[in-house]
Amino acid sequence: MKKPDNAMKIIFLSLSENERFARSAVGGFIASKDPRIDELGDLKTAVSEAVTNCIVHAYRDCIGTIELSARLYGDEVVVKVRDTGCGIEDVKKAMEPLYTTLPDEERSGLGFSVMESFCDSVSVKSRPGSGTTVTLTKKLGKRSLLK
Ligand SMILES: Nc1ncnc2c1ncn2[C@@H]1O[C@H](COP(=O)(O)OP(=O)(O)OP(=O)(O)O)[C@@H](O)[C@H]1O
Ligand SMILES: [Mg+2]
Repeated sequence: MKKPDNAMKIIFLSLSENERFARSAVGGFIASKDPRIDELGDLKTAVSEAVTNCIVHAYRDCIGTIELSARLYGDEVVVKVRDTGCGIEDVKKAMEPLYTTLPDEERSGLGFSVMESFCDSVSVKSRPGSGTTVTLTKKLGKRSLLK
């Protein structure tokens, strides 16, 4: 396994106020890389989506723990958001745009699509009854031709 240049891991409760905490934690962690404002915002938004999913889906009627870890490999950051909640039966289906199991609660089914468009890669490992780990990878400092 590659050795990271830096790494962090935090564990917090699945309370909605901790979504902001998770965003800030990841933002603070990559601050030393001096990220562009847009890539910082994109990564924080992707982390928010993954953490919100733990809060509203994984621990639907209870409070559980969420493990957030991040590693830096050169200019690449790898963020993992892990819960030990209900898990996902069909990951492929869950990742389809507009698919949601909570349409009555104003969920639009776009969380995974947002993660995918704001990161270079998104991988989801889940086991029903055991929990889910979402891994977000993003290269920092990549110049867009459109900007
Ligand atoms: N950590 C998780 N644990 C259990 N189920 C999950 C988890 N993350 C996602 N899911 C399932 O995958 C579906 C799709 O997630 P996604 O984030 O794309 O949409 P959403 O959360 O339903 O809506 P939105 O993110 O737009 O508010 C969810 O409706 C839920 O059924
Ligand atoms: Mg979501």
